[in-house]
Amino acid sequence: MMTTDTESAKRRLAFQKSYSLETKSSWRRKSLIEDAKFDTVTNAEFEKREKTLSRGDSITEEDEVFSSNGEAHSVPDKEAAQKICLVLVLRDGLGSLSRILKTFENSKVDISHIESRPSLRSEAAFEIYLRCNGQKNAITVLTNTLKQSSSILDLTVTANDEESKDVWFPRHIADLDKCNHLVTKFEPDLDYDHPGFADKVYRQRRQKIADIAFNYRHGQEIPRVEYVEDEIKTWGHVYSQLKRLLPTHACREYLHVFDILERECGYCENRIPQLQDVSNFMRKRTGFQLRPVSGLLSARDFLASLAFRVFQCTQYVRHGSKPDHSPEPDCIHELLGHVPMLADRRFAQFSQEIGLASLGAADEDIEKIATLYWFTVEFGLLKQDGGLRAYGAGALSSYGELLHALGDGPKKLPFDPETTAVQEYTDDDFQPIYFVVESFDDMQTKMRQYAAKIKRPYEVVYDPYTETIEPKKTKDVISSVADNITQELNNLRCAMEKITSISVKS
Ligand SMILES: [Fe+2]
Repeated sequence: MMTTDTESAKRRLAFQKSYSLETKSSWRRKSLIEDAKFDTVTNAEFEKREKTLSRGDSITEEDEVFSSNGEAHSVPDKEAAQKICLVLVLRDGLGSLSRILKTFENSKVDISHIESRPSLRSEAAFEIYLRCNGQKNAITVLTNTLKQSSSILDLTVTANDEESKDVWFPRHIADLDKCNHLVTKFEPDLDYDHPGFADKVYRQRRQKIADIAFNYRHGQEIPRVEYVEDEIKTWGHVYSQLKRLLPTHACREYLHVFDILERECGYCENRIPQLQDVSNFMRKRTGFQLRPVSGLLSARDFLASLAFRVFQCTQYVRHGSKPDHSPEPDCIHELLGHVPMLADRRFAQFSQEIGLASLGAADEDIEKIATLYWFTVEFGLLKQDGGLRAYGAGALSSYGELLHALGDGPKKLPFDPETTAVQEYTDDDFQPIYFVVESFDDMQTKMRQYAAKIKRPYEVVYDPYTETIEPKKTKDVISSVADNITQELNNLRCAMEKITSISVKS
């Protein structure tokens, strides 16, 4: 049974569209794979701790914790460890957050999850939601300290209601509105090495564009961004450099779509295409569509979007001082790297199947699927026309990486999902290792075989007419697929009869 109606789903609703930051010790998360690894470790720790607890979830009067506005909430009575949720209402901006997080560092309370969202209260700037665990005494000391902080307008403590072992995933395409956004170490507000860290104007501009995604809801038109001269110059620089390299380095499928994008979708050096126009183009070709995103999503949520043929796409542009490098995804990477491949029918199918394989999977499997995504969709190489060609977006959107990837420096290994899924990766330099597929057919076959071994208590079936995903028992899936095959065979029979009748007449 799935749990869209569980407390987990309710919490998602309550905090939907919020930025989040998840970490174990460094407060930061590095990438899609790092994100998946984090979930694996923390969830395993939670489970282990749960098993060691001898007592149940009985609530005692003394365990009631009061929010600073006087509202009482209950915390489960567990001597060894407690899991709680905190909501901090910040008086000012996120600047005070680092000081507040320091308080946690000094306590013995671990944070397993943290999100932020702009506050709806006029006197407050942000609200921070945290899931924590620690011993009861440590939690009491921590909350008392937090209550005395002048940066915190209000503090609410509740029991952690994330008790369900079932994994939530979006069932309808509109459920993608509930997916959380991550703040990562790569964002300019947090990353000292980000080219835009010291540029207040850039950070404000980036935030303004990211807010479009923050406020976006499924079914809306993607608001257009009037890109400024500097942004167009950065785009033009990358575009013109890549144009020279692509004919000899990109795969046929990419080049074919890129040519159409230039003819039909306004791709050119002196104009950044609008996401809505590109999304319309993609929908016509493969059914994929773009959805604006304000930063890096959790691996689980990002992969889930692919199951609906939705690609989460940033809209802001990298800092102009370093046009050849962006520590985080930006629209140049998405539009030049991902879009052409997602507008190829076979690659679109491959991408959706990665997403479907992730739905309801265990954390360990999400980590492996994210790694497979990394070494295929982001950095994959393909044997083609007697040589190697790139099909991964990370390579195709970077002149330097593309040259490096097809050069003699890095290792090239044959793509094998079992070994690729556990390969170490790097996210702050050119890749030292790339995986090479024999062909897209071969890659898809291997991935299907791999996905079939992922343990789930159900299969998932996507209905393109209703844009929903239903978990089904295996026998129901067989019956559903058999119906589709019957329909296809009928179509084939009709076509054959027409061909036969035309042959007889002539
Ligand atoms: Fe990417």
